[in-house]
Amino acid sequence: HMMLREGLYRLNQQAMLHYTHLLTQTPSGEHARNYLEQRGITRDTIKELNLGYSPNRWDDMVLFLKQHKVTKAMAQASGFVLSRRETKGYYDRFRNRIMFPIFDVTRQVAGFGGRVMDDAVPKYLNSPETPVYSKGRILYGLHLSKIHCRQEDTVYIVEGYFDFISLYQCGIKNCVATLGTALSDSHVRLLKGAASRAFLVFDSDMAGINAAKRSIGTFLKEGLDVRIIILPQGQDPDSFVQQNGKSGFEACAKKAMSVIPFLTRAAVDQFGLSVEGKIKIIQEMKEHLARVDDPAARSLYIHELSQTLNIDETAVLEKVRTAFLESAGVSDIAYLPRQDGDTAPETG
Ligand code: CTP
Ligand code: MN
Ligand code: MN
Ligand code: MN
Ligand code: MN
Repeated sequence: HMMLREGLYRLNQQAMLHYTHLLTQTPSGEHARNYLEQRGITRDTIKELNLGYSPNRWDDMVLFLKQHKVTKAMAQASGFVLSRRETKGYYDRFRNRIMFPIFDVTRQVAGFGGRVMDDAVPKYLNSPETPVYSKGRILYGLHLSKIHCRQEDTVYIVEGYFDFISLYQCGIKNCVATLGTALSDSHVRLLKGAASRAFLVFDSDMAGINAAKRSIGTFLKEGLDVRIIILPQGQDPDSFVQQNGKSGFEACAKKAMSVIPFLTRAAVDQFGLSVEGKIKIIQEMKEHLARVDDPAARSLYIHELSQTLNIDETAVLEKVRTAFLESAGVSDIAYLPRQDGDTAPETG
């Protein structure tokens, strides 16, 4: 397998050079160059991120693989080509797209993403899982940003390619993109090696807010300090920073929310403040509150939630303690943690 993996890395590197050549040096790349310019991406950025262009052909990579004498097994494993359905032979996966090479932290090209330049679907295509590319283990941009994350001890986590690129270009270099996938345990472990504080800057729409909510549990579990930056409705980090610059973004970052206030606000937005809504909000929030380790923080959050819902604080506290015990797998009332915030009884 070692041989195959090394071969794939080498092939990806060659393909990257092929795509960057097409983007920057050929007439067929003009449309793509214009597209990137119109999105505010500079030539320096294109070079630093090795952006490229896959031509509007079915057989560009098929021929490339033949010319480079790539074996059939390697060609199939690479993800660049797909088997034809009706006849034998292959056709290109990436056609007429802006190409984003995806590097791993050791700066080897693990895979690619490709974006159309109009409203065609799918908007993005990515390499399939290959022996060298696994989307749950790679964060876009980390090969460049890791040193900056270390310097600032902080990382900004965004969803998309252009979110990363625009932040990086405007001088906010300590960022990574999840590429629209759920944040995995191994993502968070990668991040922990780079910084102890994280900001989630997901798109300010339903999909982004839900993705942020799903990611929070993973962070808390791995013990990384995380806060959420809320952009104006409908914006993503790319559109926001292209409009408002670095200083606008930093102003937003200053107003970042802690996890519990963010989740409370999301729950209020979702369920509303009717009696039934409030009951659902408590049902949801008690689980999150039970996971807050710091007793002072937990107490403050419980106070805040009871104020928001205009409900007696001891009722919320009781719910949280029950949730805490249930999650610890304890049913014996004798194990109730004391109210001054003693930690969980040992289990298992
Ligand atoms: N994504 C994907 N496939 C899609 C749509 C999205 O893989 N069909 C991933 C991409 O990595 C994308 C990210 O999810 O960058 C976020 O999606 P979205 O917000 O829809 O795209 P943007 O990054 O905002 O893309 P753009 O600004 O180019 O429209
Ligand atoms: Mn989105
Ligand atoms: Mn987006
Ligand atoms: Mn966008
Ligand atoms: Mn109080």
